[in-house]
Amino acid sequence: MSGFVEKPEPVQVPGLVHLHTGKVRELYQNEAGDLVMVASDRMSAFDWVLPTEIPDKGRILTQLSLWWFDRLADLVPSHVLSTELPPGAPADWAGRTLVCKSLRMVPVECVARGYLTGSGLAEYRTSRTVCGLALPEGLVDGSELPAPIFTPATKAAVGEHDENVSYEEVAHQVGAETAAQLRQVTLAVYGRARDIARERGIILADTKFEFGYDGDTLILADEVLTPDSSRFWPADQWEPGRPQPSFDKQFVRNWLTSPASGWDRASEQPPPPLPSEVVEGTRAKYVEAYERLTGVSWS
Ligand SMILES: Nc1ncnc2c1ncn2[C@@H]1O[C@H](COP(=O)(O)OP(=O)(O)OP(=O)(O)O)[C@@H](O)[C@H]1O
Ligand SMILES: [Mg+2]
Repeated sequence: MSGFVEKPEPVQVPGLVHLHTGKVRELYQNEAGDLVMVASDRMSAFDWVLPTEIPDKGRILTQLSLWWFDRLADLVPSHVLSTELPPGAPADWAGRTLVCKSLRMVPVECVARGYLTGSGLAEYRTSRTVCGLALPEGLVDGSELPAPIFTPATKAAVGEHDENVSYEEVAHQVGAETAAQLRQVTLAVYGRARDIARERGIILADTKFEFGYDGDTLILADEVLTPDSSRFWPADQWEPGRPQPSFDKQFVRNWLTSPASGWDRASEQPPPPLPSEVVEGTRAKYVEAYERLTGVSWS
């Protein structure tokens, strides 16, 4: 088993219909039919939603996504309509609530990779391919790829792994034209973001986008280029051949897999609550990613 240790009870707001509890976000529909996305402080790791929240995480991810959407607007429109709180919403939704266009979501996780690690590395080690794409010999954990690649995955249900799929499978599922557009926009946005991050001393190793259609228009949805959807590495510590230090969930993952946590990942038991120093350390990583990328101090 995995997923939620205990599924949270969504806040009810007059005028909003609760649609869905995601691992991190609560989704509502307002009376205009738009999507209201509220990012919580929940954190997931190893396909579990952890029993301990990370203070400010929802606001940091929301503000970072907005910052990126601004910098990508000439490449692809975003789903954000407004950052105003819906009337009657609790005050603590401020800064972590987005009113978005409700889209026909494309059921593909659009991943771009500029560096080899994670599930890409695992596939490379068995077949020297990633999502069926042949790669040169001699690459190691953290190697930069000859060129960024589009490595789609199918979105899994809560508690299941996303599964890497070939481009051909995506084309089969969504049609050749849509698949081509997804690949082109994914790589264009990745390239832009990689360059911006690089100027700030951060390597954007890989990242995941979700797209939807509004009529015939492809729109960038969900969250973008956050530590939850991306691997960010401090460029000055990049050293291929070992796992890289990162601004993502590595801090929590390291603790959960260490003897200190007492947790056995294979046991199918839920992970234990995080001690305060792990919570603080993780929060600090999210703040640092936000500050380094945007150049704005968090508090
Ligand atoms: N503009 C949009 N229109 C419709 N759905 C959207 C839009 N933007 C994001 N979504 C969906 O909202 C959800 C965001 O919630 P969250 O990130 O917590 O979910 P998740 O953990 O990624 O997936 P799951 O919902 O399976 O738990 C995702 O299912 C995403 O596909
Ligand atoms: Mg998500």
